Amino acid sequence: MEAIPDQQAALRLVSLYKSYGDIKAVKGINLTLKRGEILGLLGPNGSGKSTTMKMVLGILKPDAGEVFVYGQNETAAPVELKKRLGYVPETPQLYEFLTGIEYIDFVAEMYGVAPAERKERVSHFLEGMQLAGHENEMISGYSQGMKQKIALISALVHKPEILVLDEALNGLDPRSARLVKDLLRELASEGVSILFSTHVLEIAQALCDRVAIMYQGTIMAEGTVAELRQTAGLPGSSLEEVFLKMTGTDDIGEVVKALSR
Ligand SMILES: Nc1ncnc2c1ncn2[C@@H]1O[C@H](COP(=O)(O)OP(=O)(O)O)[C@@H](O)[C@H]1O
Ligand SMILES: [Mg+2]
Repeated sequence: MEAIPDQQAALRLVSLYKSYGDIKAVKGINLTLKRGEILGLLGPNGSGKSTTMKMVLGILKPDAGEVFVYGQNETAAPVELKKRLGYVPETPQLYEFLTGIEYIDFVAEMYGVAPAERKERVSHFLEGMQLAGHENEMISGYSQGMKQKIALISALVHKPEILVLDEALNGLDPRSARLVKDLLRELASEGVSILFSTHVLEIAQALCDRVAIMYQGTIMAEGTVAELRQTAGLPGSSLEEVFLKMTGTDDIGEVVKALSR
């Protein structure tokens, strides 16, 4: 059957498949990200979240299936559509010998964003992320959290309409996690659509409007975390086991507390 693209959806994944040799990482998923929505891709490690996101970005070519960006087939016009996306990978690789601002400027140049066009925007993000005053320091001296924030700002310089964030709160201290959450909320209220992956149930709950539970390469369920918790609590629910695997560990307890405030 021919897939009918949905003009209203920021992002639509239709029957996506991806294997690595014998490993079937993603097994026919369908997913819609609405405009201005923060959608969580929630699942334990190895469930196929990063693979899915890389296919959305065009970094990995699906074995089958299609990605639509605002109704347009991404495989048909990849470069134009990619400009509408911003991406922070699970472990961002920054050029450590640059300063934070040099790195952001470097990325902005790649996207063709003129200095005058980005200056105010970058300053706003540096302030918001509490990095102002550190932007002229070498990235090699930054904490993990500061690097995460620089990666996030770099992904925002070209004003993407869709933001794809792979475990973007990992390595952040509670206060920074809170700042990132506030920034993401602000962007969503401006109409930016955000696909956010996490393996931590509580982070999804604190941040996302809606979540899709991913497990062993498929989407098991979709809804608000409250709705899914209720389903998981039902006797014999297949979600129960998945939820048990995603309970927050002690080291993210403080982050979750800050997020939930
Ligand atoms: N480059 C790769 N080569 C081989 N197997 C991979 C590769 N990347 C991921 N996988 C496997 O694919 C599955 C899904 O991985 P991934 O998409 O990274 O899941 P998640 O992001 O949810 O942890 C896992 O079994 C993982 O080991
Ligand atoms: Mg991953």
